[in-house]
Amino acid sequence: MRIPDHLAEKGKKRIASFPVDGFVFGGGPEHPKMMLVGEAPGETEIGNGVPFSGRAGRELMTFIERLGLTREEVYITSAVRSRPYRWGEKKTRDGQVVKRKYNRPPTAREITAHAPLLDYEVANVRAPVIVTLGNIGLKRLAGPDKKIGDCHGDLLVQPVQKLDENDQFVWTDKEYRIFPTYHPASIFYNRSLLEVIHSDLEKLKEVLASG
Ligand code: URA
Repeated sequence: MRIPDHLAEKGKKRIASFPVDGFVFGGGPEHPKMMLVGEAPGETEIGNGVPFSGRAGRELMTFIERLGLTREEVYITSAVRSRPYRWGEKKTRDGQVVKRKYNRPPTAREITAHAPLLDYEVANVRAPVIVTLGNIGLKRLAGPDKKIGDCHGDLLVQPVQKLDENDQFVWTDKEYRIFPTYHPASIFYNRSLLEVIHSDLEKLKEVLASG
């Protein structure tokens, strides 16, 4: 399943005034084993159009394997579908300082700009559980008061946030099963989180087995 083109065009227009690059569709089966919600694509993903195909993606594939699943069985998306960047400086080997773009987390306004895209996926993809990766996906869906450090590895059964016609977040009538864990990129900064994620994945395995 993929969002309709008119919705993608709307998303591109809504985010056009922000410092972001490209557009990567989420994707996967309409009836996946689970839906994964990340943060935003990075440089690699913008280059090849495939979500989670860079360094964080390689880690994520090991998580999916641990669950006994394949990439083809899961729906993969994120809160924002363009790459948020900031300009920074880098010293080259020959000592020159060059300007380059660095990834950064999406802002609240960028998340709002692309909210209709994720809302469509949440409403139309028949996933038995939505796994949020990191704080951005968790807060976007389960609400701003949620913190990954407090609720990773817990199954939350609750409404999710969706954008209304006034660009305000409201709660869905329907309840969803949300399973928060850390973003795979978090282990690049804090290696000890890998053990925590592995223990979350053991719990997620039980949740998936219970249907
Ligand atoms: N992080 C995300 O959240 N999504 C990607 O596609 C890549 C990195």
